[in-house]
Amino acid sequence: MTIVVIGAGGHGHVVTDILHATAAAGEPVECGGCVDDHLSSSGAGPVLGPVSALPRLRHDAVVVAIGDNETRASVSSRLQTAGEHLAIARHPTAIVAIDVRIGEGTMICAGAIVCAGVRLGRGVILNTGSIVDHHSMIGDFAHIAPGVRLGGEVWIGERAFIGIGATVLPRITIGAGAVVGAGAVVTRDVPPGVTVAGVPARVLKPAQKVTARPQSKMPHCDQGHAVTLVTPTRPCVLCQKDKLQRVGVTPQ
Ligand SMILES: CC(C)(COP(=O)(O)OP(=O)(O)OC[C@H]1O[C@@H](n2cnc3c(N)ncnc32)[C@H](O)[C@@H]1OP(=O)(O)O)[C@@H](O)C(=O)NCCC(=O)NCCS
Repeated sequence: MTIVVIGAGGHGHVVTDILHATAAAGEPVECGGCVDDHLSSSGAGPVLGPVSALPRLRHDAVVVAIGDNETRASVSSRLQTAGEHLAIARHPTAIVAIDVRIGEGTMICAGAIVCAGVRLGRGVILNTGSIVDHHSMIGDFAHIAPGVRLGGEVWIGERAFIGIGATVLPRITIGAGAVVGAGAVVTRDVPPGVTVAGVPARVLKPAQKVTARPQSKMPHCDQGHAVTLVTPTRPCVLCQKDKLQRVGVTPQ
């Protein structure tokens, strides 16, 4: 399978390396190069052209290697509408439990560890050396930065960003579009759109507007939210109004 990397920035270089490492490990994967609307070269080599050049390039699938969650989501949606297939990029040194479900377009970087029962949405970035413990759920287009540690049964909402080296205690819910600062230790649920930082994590910025979510093939609740709970005994992370009210924030 020939895969073209969308985005030639730092993350594009990382994903290019994942594809080369996957091929070197004997998998039937070939990196077809990078396309980018703004850059003419990347650390991985010359850029083949803008994204609009894709139809002229020989390829079977793409990986959208753009670190910013909103941009990755919108570019992925546009490309899927145009008929592109989003591949999963998984570094051979990542340890992924056998029953983990991985959404299309998700990237699992070198040294990441994903434990049993985890569900990863579409277009997720599990960056270098991050750890996702058992039965956690990562929503579509969330970004888990290098060295993050998520305890068991943690739920990360769509397009949330968890900064370098942060720790999230077991059974914590991080709302859609929330930001967790580098090095934070999250001991309480974080409402959608809120930025927290520090040890223990405290609110740094109030809720930002959380944009509409794309359709997802992940399991979803009866409201259509893609980030559902791992077990039927817990309600949807986005609809669990009681929980949000407990942390003093008006539910969306
Ligand atoms: C939390 C974060 C998003 C805030 O960014 P910001 O909105 O630009 O905030 P500022 O830099 O203006 O900082 C605001 C205040 O928060 C403090 N602060 C910022 N980040 C912090 C952090 N991670 N932990 C503790 N305090 C932090 C600043 O020192 C500053 O305090 P002050 O007002 O007393 O001077 C950002 O600092 C961060 O941690 N980003 C993660 C980066 C990362 O992991 N990238 C991974 C790429 S793969």
